[in-house]
Amino acid sequence: MSSFLAPEQALSTLNEYEHRDGLSVEALLDEQLSGGLTYNDFLILPGYIDFAANATSLESKITKNISLRTPFMSSPMDTVTEADMAISMALLGGIGIIHHNCSAEEQADMVRKVKKFENGFIMDPIVLSPTHTVADVKEIKETHGFCGIPITETGKMHGKLVGMVTARDIQFHMDDSSTLDSIMTKELVVAQKDITLADANRILFTSKKGKLPIVDENGCLVSLLARSDLLKNQNYPLASKKPSSKQLLVGAAIGTRPDDKERLALLAEAGLDVVVLDSSQGNSVYQIEMIKWIKENFPSVDVIAGNVVTREQAANLIAAGADGLRIGMGSGSICITQEVMACGRPQATAVYRVSEFAARFGVPTVADGGIGNVGHIVKAIALGASAVMMGGLLAGCEEAPGTYFFRDGVRLKRYRGMGSIDAMTKVNSKDGNAATKRYFSEGDTVKVAQGVVGNVVDKGSVRNYLTYLITGVQHSLQDIGTLSVEQFHKDVASGKVRFEKRTAAAQMEGGVHGLHSFEKKLYA
Ligand code: IMP
Repeated sequence: MSSFLAPEQALSTLNEYEHRDGLSVEALLDEQLSGGLTYNDFLILPGYIDFAANATSLESKITKNISLRTPFMSSPMDTVTEADMAISMALLGGIGIIHHNCSAEEQADMVRKVKKFENGFIMDPIVLSPTHTVADVKEIKETHGFCGIPITETGKMHGKLVGMVTARDIQFHMDDSSTLDSIMTKELVVAQKDITLADANRILFTSKKGKLPIVDENGCLVSLLARSDLLKNQNYPLASKKPSSKQLLVGAAIGTRPDDKERLALLAEAGLDVVVLDSSQGNSVYQIEMIKWIKENFPSVDVIAGNVVTREQAANLIAAGADGLRIGMGSGSICITQEVMACGRPQATAVYRVSEFAARFGVPTVADGGIGNVGHIVKAIALGASAVMMGGLLAGCEEAPGTYFFRDGVRLKRYRGMGSIDAMTKVNSKDGNAATKRYFSEGDTVKVAQGVVGNVVDKGSVRNYLTYLITGVQHSLQDIGTLSVEQFHKDVASGKVRFEKRTAAAQMEGGVHGLHSFEKKLYA
């Protein structure tokens, strides 16, 4: 007779074990035993797959009142998030937080640009007046590569549309000093505002024109549709919007000084949905007072407070009325805070401790800093974060501010910490004030850096990159055997999802090893 158990006994035998494989989240993050951990220190054990990866839902809350379809936020940094990044983040179901290293007016303009964005419609096209000249058009063609330009009486958007100038109008025109009223096309095909993108595309297609101006009831220009963009006008079913509105969601960061109240007033007027109180150590009397003031004066703007890494810090901000918390101190890729201040906490422990506490009050958390790959995103969510905030991972994208340059044959973009000397000494173009106040006090005689300036590799468009992140996270959740972010949080809390610590050797094993050389292509 065989001494083996029968195959059908496998499950019941397993159930008889006192301990399941791996550790519960509490055991993993038992500080007495293992001190502070970060993402690379552990792995999640695989579960059971009985669904397709694309069936998983990444919907998650970032504040008490705002839910996103993808749990991704871009950092309020001047080399990461301005309007273009925020638009793309929101189209893909996340949200961009516009930085405040600029004047309040400039920041409010960026918020407005996101709120006014309509997929496919160009909201701020180059516009000229009838008194501009052929030379002006030729210059635009040279610098921007196109010359289908709407002409309004004022030479600006929202002026009365009086003509269009196209490549054909100037092609054989030798006299560069001629004014545009003598050469522009005055018989125009236009569409009325509120037209759907599909209908506008149809008109553009049948009219055989290159550009379709969109006008309001008074014939004033409100936007433009370009034939060259037709193919690019994809649908964005995940786009972050309030249920009742067509507008994309957008966030912005502010400090906690008295003039930040005026800044917030301008941002709120521009349509801001969520404000992030941007401080590297958020547990301060200034922040607590600011939260209370915002809740009283702008009840419709949700407040993400922080940054925090302990429950004690979190408790103060939750009590003051924070709608969400941002977690991380010293974990950012450009950050030297832990080195200089001796303050901070390994990010996995910080995310777990704060999220577990905040969850009891229904306050969602954002894991901010140190996200370097898809696995880190999944681990941050496993530890209780509702969303992740990314700086370095997105700074190489086309939509991040700044221009590419080549070094040693590699296409790069600059990425700097907001606490770098470089960022702290930037002077605002409009009000002439020193820029970010996140990292220093006005009375300081010396600015102590908490960040560095560096370069990151070109990542192409964030719209492709985020699609990769979304798909990657979905595949990971499938391996873990959990169908949604919400379920994932529950399965971790109940002990169903199991974890394991990694030794240094295990970490080596988990990376590419033993090869002479290799190419790491992350998605296609
Ligand atoms: P990353 O995604 O690892 O590059 O980290 C981005 C995060 O680092 C931001 O969202 C901020 O919380 C934080 N951060 C930004 N600038 C600085 C700095 O100069 N020093 C320390 N932390 C910073």
